[in-house]
Amino acid sequence: MDPKISIQNLTKVFYKKESRVTALDGITLDIKDGEFICLVGPSGCGKTTLLRILADLEKPSAGSFTIAQGKEDRPLQSMVFQERGVIPWLTVEGNVSFGLKMRHLPKNTVKERTDYYLEKVGLDRFAKLYPKELSGGMKQRVSIARAFANDPEILLMDEPFAALDEQNKFILQEELLNIWSETKKTVLFITHSIDEALLLSDRILLMSAQPGRIVGEKRIDLPRPRNMEEVRADPLMAEHFVDIWTHLQDEVQRSRI
Ligand SMILES: Nc1ncnc2c1ncn2[C@@H]1O[C@H](COP(=O)(O)OP(=O)(O)OP(=O)(O)O)[C@@H](O)[C@H]1O
Ligand SMILES: [Mg+2]
Repeated sequence: MDPKISIQNLTKVFYKKESRVTALDGITLDIKDGEFICLVGPSGCGKTTLLRILADLEKPSAGSFTIAQGKEDRPLQSMVFQERGVIPWLTVEGNVSFGLKMRHLPKNTVKERTDYYLEKVGLDRFAKLYPKELSGGMKQRVSIARAFANDPEILLMDEPFAALDEQNKFILQEELLNIWSETKKTVLFITHSIDEALLLSDRILLMSAQPGRIVGEKRIDLPRPRNMEEVRADPLMAEHFVDIWTHLQDEVQRSRI
């Protein structure tokens, strides 16, 4: 089967007056349809840059990528950011339906899809509220509902739970996995949390410190549905945890030399 996302030799250099920063250096990668991929790497290794390129918010300096288009009327990608993901002057409902309205989908389709995902993330009772009336966790739920309601080919998630407390994080991880298993979307998810990567992923990609390259991967074959207790109790996952932790420590050290 053709990959859903195919990235060939992607390189990104940022120029600033006299200096240049190679953020990404020759990323080559295939991601299968429906795969849940976590990207893990030290701060500044180019994770956000990679997502922004895939979201067409940034142009690569060299190399290319393709995202396979299935249904014609579907957007290629939706992005969920760490914060600032919601539009402050729209209600919860308005935020979730925003992309659908922009595409001029029939009113009843917009309503049905919006209601469906609001219910999925437990925000149906809060549909008429504005973002300033919501907690951080609720705002992230709005972003997730909007991303899935758009029904994109792929989902790009940049540390969506990083600013949340542990309890909220657990709940949202579970909700995300529920919706993902139902929709079978291809997800590229950035996280600094090794636990989170082990819980969510089919595959974890390890990145080097700047310039960002993919230097390793871990396949996570635990059966689904999973929960954090099972992940933590699994001896192989404990081994993966230590490997990834060591990799990150080494990369951070290397970037300081
Ligand atoms: N618009 C830009 N202009 C100049 N340099 C940039 C720009 N965006 C990113 N960079 C640089 O590219 C490198 C990679 O940044 P990026 O934000 O992709 O890292 P990251 O892996 O997401 O880090 P973090 O884990 O801290 O979020 C950094 O050195 C950053 O300073
Ligand atoms: Mg980042």
